[in-house]
Formats: sequence, C-alpha cells, structure tokens
Amino acid sequence: MTSQALREARIYEDVAEKMIAKEERPVFHLSARTGWMNDPNGFSFYDGKYHMFYQYHPYDSHWGPMHWGHAVSEDLLHWEYLPAALAPDEIYDRNGCFSGSAVALPDGRQLLMYTGVQQQRLANGGIRDIQTQCLAVGNGMDYEKYENNPVLDENDLPEGCSASDFRDPKVWRKEDGTYCCVVGNRPADGSGQILLFTSVDGFSWNFKKVLIANNNRFGKMWECPDLFELDGQMVLLTSPQDMLPQGFEYHNGNGTLCLIGDYDKETDTFTEKHNQAIDYGIDFYAPQTTLAPDGRRIMIGWLQNWDTCNFRSRNMAWFGQMSLPRELFIKNGRLYQRPVKELENMRKNKVEYCNVDISGNVRLDGIRGRRIDMELVLRPADQQNIYQKFAVRFAQNDQYQTSFSFRPRESVLKIDRKFSGSRRAIIHQRRSLVNSKNGELKIRIILDRFSVEAFINDGEQVMSAVIHTDQEADGISFFADGAAKMDIVKYDL
Ligand code: FRU
Repeated sequence: MTSQALREARIYEDVAEKMIAKEERPVFHLSARTGWMNDPNGFSFYDGKYHMFYQYHPYDSHWGPMHWGHAVSEDLLHWEYLPAALAPDEIYDRNGCFSGSAVALPDGRQLLMYTGVQQQRLANGGIRDIQTQCLAVGNGMDYEKYENNPVLDENDLPEGCSASDFRDPKVWRKEDGTYCCVVGNRPADGSGQILLFTSVDGFSWNFKKVLIANNNRFGKMWECPDLFELDGQMVLLTSPQDMLPQGFEYHNGNGTLCLIGDYDKETDTFTEKHNQAIDYGIDFYAPQTTLAPDGRRIMIGWLQNWDTCNFRSRNMAWFGQMSLPRELFIKNGRLYQRPVKELENMRKNKVEYCNVDISGNVRLDGIRGRRIDMELVLRPADQQNIYQKFAVRFAQNDQYQTSFSFRPRESVLKIDRKFSGSRRAIIHQRRSLVNSKNGELKIRIILDRFSVEAFINDGEQVMSAVIHTDQEADGISFFADGAAKMDIVKYDL
C-alpha cells in the first residue's frame, strides 16, 4: 500500500519535472528529477536494467526530509525517471529515509536496505537522531516497507557504538546465498568505523564484527561504506566527514577514502595496505558501486560536496547530480577509474590534431563545446628545456572560464573554476600531485553542461567539479609558458 506521503511526492514530482526544460539539465549525468539530490542509493542491475535510487527532497532544492528518488537506465548514461520509491512515512523513518543499497532476492523481488531516522527529544531540550537499518521489498517500481522494521537497531550494537551515527548499509549476496552488509558507525573515540553484519535470508540480521576502525586517522565519522573484491584485492570505499588534509591528499573536508588491502574470508579480517582519496577535484562524495552483468565494477558518486553546496545557480529548480559512471580497476596498488565504455557510443564529430605546437595562447579549429569527450597527450617540445606551465581553458568566453593548469616541475595539476560565474567566495580550486615524467601528461576531460571530470594518466587520478557557467561560453583554448607539444582527440557527446 502506498502511503499518502509517497503518493503526494509522486504527484508533485510528476508535475514539477515538467517545469524543467531539458536544456537546463546535464545530458548523460543523472540529476534530481526535481528539488534536491544527494547520495546515490541502491545502485544495482535488476530485471534487465540499472537502477539508481538517490537521496531526494522533491519539494525544495535544499536538503530536507529524505525520500528515495528512482531512475533506470540500460546504458548508465540515458536515465528514465521512475516514481519516488520511499517516503519518510513510518515512525522509525519519519525524519528521513537515509542512504542504503539494493540486492535481488532469489524469488525475483528487489530488497532495499536503508537507514531510518527518527528524532528524539532529550530531557535537556536537545534533539538526538536514532538511526536504524530498515528494509523495503519491491518489484523495481513499488516497494513495501518490511513489517518487522527496523531490522538492526541500538540493541544489535556492541558497547560504545553510537545509535545516532549508525547509517548507510551496503548489502550484497555472497556466493553461498547468504547476505552481508557493511554499515558506517561512530565508536566511543568519536571517529568512525565500519561494522559488518550477516544474514541468512536478507531479513534477519546479526552483528558480526567491527571490520575496520578509523582510530581518528582519516576524518571523523565514516559515511557510505562499500566493500568489494577487485583484481584480487579487497577495496573499502568510504566518505569520511571532517578530514584533515595530508600532503596533497584529503583536501575536501567531507572527503573520500579508498583503502586497498588483503582479506581473510575465514575470519573476515581486512588488512590495509594502501590509502588514497577517490577523487582529487572539488565535488565528489558518497560513491557507491555495483557489479555489471559483464563483471565490471562500476562506481557512481554524488557530484557535489557538502562543503561547497552553496555554490549553486540561482534559477535552477533542481540541485545535485551524479558523477559519470566509472569502471574501476587496480594497478600498482592504486584505484584507477575510467568512464564506462558505453560513453564511447555517444561520441560524434571527431576532431583530431597530432603534434600541435603550444606556445602562448592557442585555439584550434573545431575544438569547442560543453558536451565533449576530449583527450590531451602532452609533452615538452624540447626535452632539455621543459615548458614552465601548460593550461587548458574551457567553458570559456570573454567573461568566463574554468581551467586545468599543469606545472611540470612540481608535477601539480590544478583545477580552477574561480571565473566560472560564481558570485560566492567559496573554494574554487584544488591542486593534485600527478605522475609525470619530463613534462608528459595525459588528461581526458568530459564536459556535460554543468560539470567537468578529468581522468589523468588513463584513470590514475580523477578530478571532478560542478560548474554553472552559461552554456554560451563554449570556448576551449590552450596555453603554454615555454614550448609544449600536444596530441588531441575530441568528440561531441
Ligand atoms: C552522506 C549522508 C549519509 C546519509 C545521507 C543523508 O552524504 O550524510 O551519511 O545517509 O547523506 O541524506
């Protein structure tokens, strides 16, 4: 039975969506149907399609009581909205249906596992969250909340675990048919940890162990965990709040963390070997992965950061979009990402130049656009005398531009959107240390109207950011202080 709250949300979004022109949205990035979007939820392949749910407040372009929005796609790039899947309509989730995940049940139904939030008034007048894990079962369109919700609450937690910061279950089915989930939690030390729970049938859950404790190393509370095997290693993704920068890593406040390590399946023991940020740009948070039918591990994140949410366009009826879906792999102990191969099917109007000389400002015929896939391969014109600086500027006209600039001597790549049209003094730059020998660098830039994502050195690093620049600003230009050579291939998307 659909609750009144969900019925109202569905009617509202159906009408409100029609007020948003297609041109006001990205083309192949999923954006909020109307109102506000944050984390990807329930990213999965179910019944022949990719399903993406998302943290959703349909009634306003700011965060509010969380619903689950819903969309489906066959290629991860062309999305079709479905009616909202969940509304905060039960006592245990009346203050929000927070993030969670999805898994297919053996009987063909789809199980959603999410965090129910209920606020409790304290004797001293304050308010505290009670966060519990809840289930809903459905057919890919309509979902029924489980009668025995919540399935995990305070009573399932070991001593010292917070019941107020206990959220974002990521569920999966093991080869033996049983289920596991990882959930973010705050232990007594005030930082974060990831808890592992198991279930025989997906409905009745038991605490297994603290899988990984932050011990105040990487930020505080760990949100939105994901755990999976990749290329013979175990990977834990999480989004820590309140991060301290370390060198060139973790500059985003609310950041992202990838731990790569060994895993003992007998004892569920994770041994960390490497740590890194997942994205080195400005806007990327709370990613979630799924396994494609062909075995690819695909990740999508929220193309936004809580620290920079005030960077918004005044007249947009939607706020929040997802990142490009990215295929993951491991190379030399690092997480690599590349845009899903499906993006190549969208390419048209190829323009190619080889060995172009870049010295001072250069424009190239046919190189412009705001929906493009463009790869640059850069090298010095003279090995003995390497250029000082290289820059590519885009979303450019007389007034506006966003750029990547590279200083080979420092091996630092910088994104700068200060002149993208922002009228707010918030963070608009990020620097990243990249791997480069003798001024050589490869950078693939994907633009989709309101975003830029750059894949550096075949995906060794990614830098993502939102831009709100007028679409008329579609110029692209290059600059070198000194002499550089560049190969370039560019497609419209
Ligand atoms: C991460 C997060 C999650 C929570 C959701 C609420 O961005 O804070 O931890 O479930 O957003 O919307």
